[in-house]
Amino acid sequence: MTKVLVTGGAGFIGSNFVRYALQTHADWHVTNLDKLTYAGRRENLHDVMDDPRHSFVHGDICNAAVAGPLVEAADYVVHFAAETHVDRSIMAAGVFLKTDVEGSFVLLEAARRNPKLQRFVQISTDEVYGSVPEGSSTETDELRPRNPYAASKAGADRLAYSYWATHDVPVIVTRASNNYGPYQFPEKIIPLFVTNAMDDLQVPLYGDGGNVRDWLHVLDHCRALDLLIHTGKNGEVYNIGGGNEVKNVDLTHTILEHAGKTASLIKPVADRKGHDRRYSLGTAKLQGMGWQPQVPFDEGLRETVAWYQANEWWWRPIKERDPAYKAYIEAQYGKR
Ligand code: NAD
Ligand code: DAU
Repeated sequence: MTKVLVTGGAGFIGSNFVRYALQTHADWHVTNLDKLTYAGRRENLHDVMDDPRHSFVHGDICNAAVAGPLVEAADYVVHFAAETHVDRSIMAAGVFLKTDVEGSFVLLEAARRNPKLQRFVQISTDEVYGSVPEGSSTETDELRPRNPYAASKAGADRLAYSYWATHDVPVIVTRASNNYGPYQFPEKIIPLFVTNAMDDLQVPLYGDGGNVRDWLHVLDHCRALDLLIHTGKNGEVYNIGGGNEVKNVDLTHTILEHAGKTASLIKPVADRKGHDRRYSLGTAKLQGMGWQPQVPFDEGLRETVAWYQANEWWWRPIKERDPAYKAYIEAQYGKR
């Protein structure tokens, strides 16, 4: 059995990756270390919790006593665990530094003690490049993160690289664009807008709605990670972009259309502070290795809207019964 440690595997991308990994690799045993913050949910793993090839460990990556032995026992580490929401990092950045930077440090230190470790995948983000007015970011571009989340991720991204350059830890760094798909916490634009629309609530569009994000289906992300785990080169950075650059206002109209609602639900609200105007990833390096996104955005978005429509059991308890979620929504958007 190949021993794979996934951190943050109860979150959006992590849970999709755990499911993908168990389905794709019969010889993998996945240990899943997750703190179960507001974003980490056992429900995301409902269909794999009892799989004998999946062991769930409720713990913090910052706790070396818990995380260290798991890293030391692994053949591969795929490190997703992080605080991930830009708006929350604007409200309170401390936990981003703690988890994203210090947590990565704890795992990397343990990786130094594991001579049989074959791969340490540091999951970074396209946000580390900062706003890209024109053209597309390539892996060697300067990093210009512009919000506390992005800066924390950039710190972890370069720290991981340094453990390859200095200590020969078999690190690869991946920088993906905006993911979408099932099990995404309803604070991010797509699940927030779909679930609001289903209840005829307004959808709060920041600024002029002209900001551009590049959308990547979460399963295309998982397939790219799988390829990189097997054929990536240590010390290298890989962009993973969906090639679907869409203005937020256009995305919003399409979501409302798929949800069977009208544009009257759109509520223009004050812009996000320091709001990056555009992200764009050049993906020639990954495409040269044989990866192509397989999910066309129109189809993937339609299916994603349908998933939230069919899975109210998953999101209603968060939106209707979680006081911490309600407090966040009120702090971010004001009282309805
Ligand atoms: P998410 O917020 O849905 O999930 C994060 C997970 O990490 C949760 O399960 C949470 O409980 C866990 N976690 C947080 N702090 C932890 C700690 N101290 N110890 C252990 N577990 C902890 O995030 P996501 O959107 O799935 O993102 C996963 C990774 O991918 C992150 O590193 C993020 O920066 C990166 N990323 C995300 C996107 C995107 O569009 N969502 C794009 C590019 C990169
Ligand atoms: O680009 C990759 C990043 O994508 C990941 O690293 C982050 O973890 C992930 O959260 C995501 O960051 P964004 O800030 O791009 O995602 P979010 O869904 O928060 O916002 C997407 C766009 O939609 C952004 O331009 C802000 C806008 N927006 C968002 C919300 C929540 C709105 O207009 N209204 C909203 O209510």
